[in-house]
Amino acid sequence: MKSYFPENFLWGAGTSAFQVEGAARTNGKGVSIADKRSQETGLLNTDIASDEYHHIDEDIELAKKLGLKAYRFSISWTRILPNGDLSKINSEGIKYYHYIIDGLLENNIQPIVTMYHFDYPLALIKKYGGWLSKESISDYVAYAKFLLKEFGNDVHYWLTINEQEVMVMQPEMLGISESNPQKQFYKAEIANFNMYLAQAKVINFVRKQYPSDMIGPAISFPTFLPASMNSKDILVAKQYEDNFAFSVMDIVLRGNVSQKYRNYLLEKGYEIDLTEDEEQILKEGIANYIGLNWYTTQVIRATNDNKLFSDMEIIKNPNLKYTDWNWAYDPVGLRFAFEEVQDRYPGVPIIITECGWSEREKMINGRIHDKNRINYLHDHLLELNKAIYDGVNVIGFCNWSFIDLLSSHQGMDKRYGLVYVDLNDRGEGSLKRYPKDSYYYYQNIIRTNGNSLFEER
Ligand code: BG6
Repeated sequence: MKSYFPENFLWGAGTSAFQVEGAARTNGKGVSIADKRSQETGLLNTDIASDEYHHIDEDIELAKKLGLKAYRFSISWTRILPNGDLSKINSEGIKYYHYIIDGLLENNIQPIVTMYHFDYPLALIKKYGGWLSKESISDYVAYAKFLLKEFGNDVHYWLTINEQEVMVMQPEMLGISESNPQKQFYKAEIANFNMYLAQAKVINFVRKQYPSDMIGPAISFPTFLPASMNSKDILVAKQYEDNFAFSVMDIVLRGNVSQKYRNYLLEKGYEIDLTEDEEQILKEGIANYIGLNWYTTQVIRATNDNKLFSDMEIIKNPNLKYTDWNWAYDPVGLRFAFEEVQDRYPGVPIIITECGWSEREKMINGRIHDKNRINYLHDHLLELNKAIYDGVNVIGFCNWSFIDLLSSHQGMDKRYGLVYVDLNDRGEGSLKRYPKDSYYYYQNIIRTNGNSLFEER
């Protein structure tokens, strides 16, 4: 086998604002739900994170030396609009993102910009309940249009919302807290559909005003495998995949809310009540590419099959290796997932917006020998190469993450980076950057456009 990665393949790496920037209360930034949640942990929080805000030159230099063709990062909504709406505009924030984008472009690194990555403005949650209110739709659209006006000449790859379905499953991430689980579910679905509508409006706007730009969401997409050859397990794995991941993709790539998804939500207690106009908004807001965050496979077992949609549980696959946080290592699962997506949405360009290995790490004499991450990259990219050979239109791969960052739930203990950041969960460390062994390994892959994957190791 040889490398089938296309010539202009976007070899990338990613981060998100609240996970790397730090400076959460600096230079006019407003508070987000991600700031609030991280400040409540009592551990390292968004005040420092990886302090990219004060290390941006160094980080761009590292990205350049790595040879990145693309850098995926997010704009912090509240660094631009501290109140979430247009009542206040923070020029310092605008300056900061121009600085990053200019720095990337000078080094021929394509910016891939996420508009909203888990960090919803707290002021809007206080004002009207955030995504629970229809007002959230126009405020998101205004924010997105603001970004497009300000950065639209330089940024041509946009991601609307990161992992909407993960936030809906964990509504605290949206600032929704209800002790009654049924009410919590109901509210999360209201937020879900407001996000769908807001996103569709932005997609429609971009497709009309910036027709050569790429616009779509970043969707969490693990591979779902049945726990056994029992058809009930096979069905429940498919139902979970349909209702968790394909529901989002169907809406954003087909403009269509499937009957199955409607039935599923109805059974769980939420009836979709979109008006005709809203159905139309979804139809007119079809993405021209999708970002998929793929890390792992999940094995699903039916626990109660007396319902239209069985209850299920996720179990461990005894044949697979797992991270300390129970994420399975399954490269073939990646090929399977991407071939499946392409069969369902033929020809749609896909960018892998996240994929990577997490581990607790220690630096020894200034070096980090992250053998597991190298193996993960090697094995998963080989399977991706086979998927591309089979005709899957993958245009880029962003390792998660570029530098070590605050994990969304486990702080700095759970490291993902190609670059080590000398800082621990108690906030101790020099914040100096140290390229790990995987950094050099990936550098070679990029330099050879995937051919080094086939060399002796
Ligand atoms: C995705 C998010 O859910 O997975 C990232 O988009 C996150 O923000 C990544 O960091 C890994 O999850 P975690 O919880 O290990 O940080």
